[in-house]
Amino acid sequence: MNSATLASRAHQVERQLDKLQAKTAKVGVIGLGYVGLPLSLLFSEAGVAIQGFDIDTAKVSQLEEGKSYIFRIPPTEIEMARSQGFRATTDFSKISDQDAVIVCVPTPLTEHRDPDLSFIERTAESIAPWLRRGQLVVLESTTYPGTTEEVLIPILNAGSPEGLCAYEEGMDPDGDVFFVAFSPEREDPGNNTVARRDIPKVIGGHGAHSGRLASALYNNIFAKTVSVSSTQAAEMTKLLENIYRCVNIALVNELKILSQKMGIDIWEVIDAAKTKPFGFQAFYPGPGLGGHCIPIDPFYLSWKAREWNFHTRFIELAGEINEGMPRYVVQAVANALNSHRKSINGSRILVLGMAYKKDIDDLRESPSLEIIEMLQDEKAIVEYNDPYFATVGRGRHYDLGMTCTPLDRIAEFDCVVIATDHSDYDYASIVKNAQLVVDSRNATRGIESTKIVHC
Ligand SMILES: NC(=O)c1ccc[n+]([C@@H]2O[C@H](COP(=O)([O-])OP(=O)(O)OC[C@H]3O[C@@H](n4cnc5c(N)ncnc54)[C@H](O)[C@@H]3O)[C@@H](O)[C@H]2O)c1
Repeated sequence: MNSATLASRAHQVERQLDKLQAKTAKVGVIGLGYVGLPLSLLFSEAGVAIQGFDIDTAKVSQLEEGKSYIFRIPPTEIEMARSQGFRATTDFSKISDQDAVIVCVPTPLTEHRDPDLSFIERTAESIAPWLRRGQLVVLESTTYPGTTEEVLIPILNAGSPEGLCAYEEGMDPDGDVFFVAFSPEREDPGNNTVARRDIPKVIGGHGAHSGRLASALYNNIFAKTVSVSSTQAAEMTKLLENIYRCVNIALVNELKILSQKMGIDIWEVIDAAKTKPFGFQAFYPGPGLGGHCIPIDPFYLSWKAREWNFHTRFIELAGEINEGMPRYVVQAVANALNSHRKSINGSRILVLGMAYKKDIDDLRESPSLEIIEMLQDEKAIVEYNDPYFATVGRGRHYDLGMTCTPLDRIAEFDCVVIATDHSDYDYASIVKNAQLVVDSRNATRGIESTKIVHC
């Protein structure tokens, strides 16, 4: 190797750091969904050149036409990013132009409720042939501890150009290596109390140099980065956060059921308890868990724990309680109709809110879907209203084929079920016009009416 080549090879980590800090690095985001698209826009806003990648040609075409497919992202934001150079493509050969690539693909469960890593695996296979020296690959998808090392890196190593491999501690960082890190997405959709850039970004590098590069990358868009010692620690951090939520929601759901039997208003109790300035964080009961994270992620850890013959009892118990909540709502509907001398069979029921939580356009794992299916199984005639969904067709776990019923038809229904407490609803008007309201979210608090049943 001549001295010029040697000089150009030296200090690639420093060179990459300089580029990342100077925002001259090119960044690719793979998977332009609820996580990847906002992340791309954040980088773009910060002046970083972004290339988006997705296998969904419909999404790529919409972005290329300056359109948005996520409700809370207006097309103007896409246009703005496009004017800064943001582009979307299905052509993975463009990976080789990027200094860093961030992977934001789905991590669902299989039919048997085991981790489905096929999206990560396919993505890794698509990246590998286009890897080059000094590049950084960051996985953001939520997953069990060990995925980056045991799944992602082996696929990248096996498929990368000859001689190139993932940097490991002890290797020459200026050699034929690329760098890998894990950094979980911690966004809370619909929660506007904390700006995205103010949510500290946890980063675990596969080796210290990988962590340094990933921190430099995210320092461009986050006010604070938090480095942990390994990819496994970063993966586990995300799971701890979500399991904490899942277990506490189960706890408050169980206490809600008990409180109702005891004639105590759990919402009043939570409001009182949260005045304690330490040691208590408020969680709220509801009709069940939804979204791509809380109902799913804990089971990634349960699955992995089996390798150590370890049974994650908290996760299983929380899952059991939370999964029972849609049935609890359906039972409350049956009881409420019964008190009006009606049966579920043949009753017309309007479910308000299809999204898994308020003010968002995300249906994934929504308890409303399960509630509707259970009511239909009991031979109810079910319709829905949701300002975020004009239609609800077919998804991974449901096939409803329904269109949104306007609220001015509310009086036609024997019972209205509040499944999601969207802010746009006028609850006083809903109660006034409905025959009977079963409220699983305490959305009607403060409204006095014998028509309301809380559940
Ligand atoms: N949505 C959230 O609020 C949230 C919050 C924190 C973490 N997460 C995690 O982030 C990850 C992504 O979630 P999401 O909600 O953005 O999912 P999503 O389904 O909205 O988006 C994923 C995108 O990846 C694309 N994709 C799938 N396979 C691909 C491949 N092989 N190559 C390129 N693109 C591919 C899909 O077409 C889709 O556009 C998941 O692991 C999830 O658990 C999500």
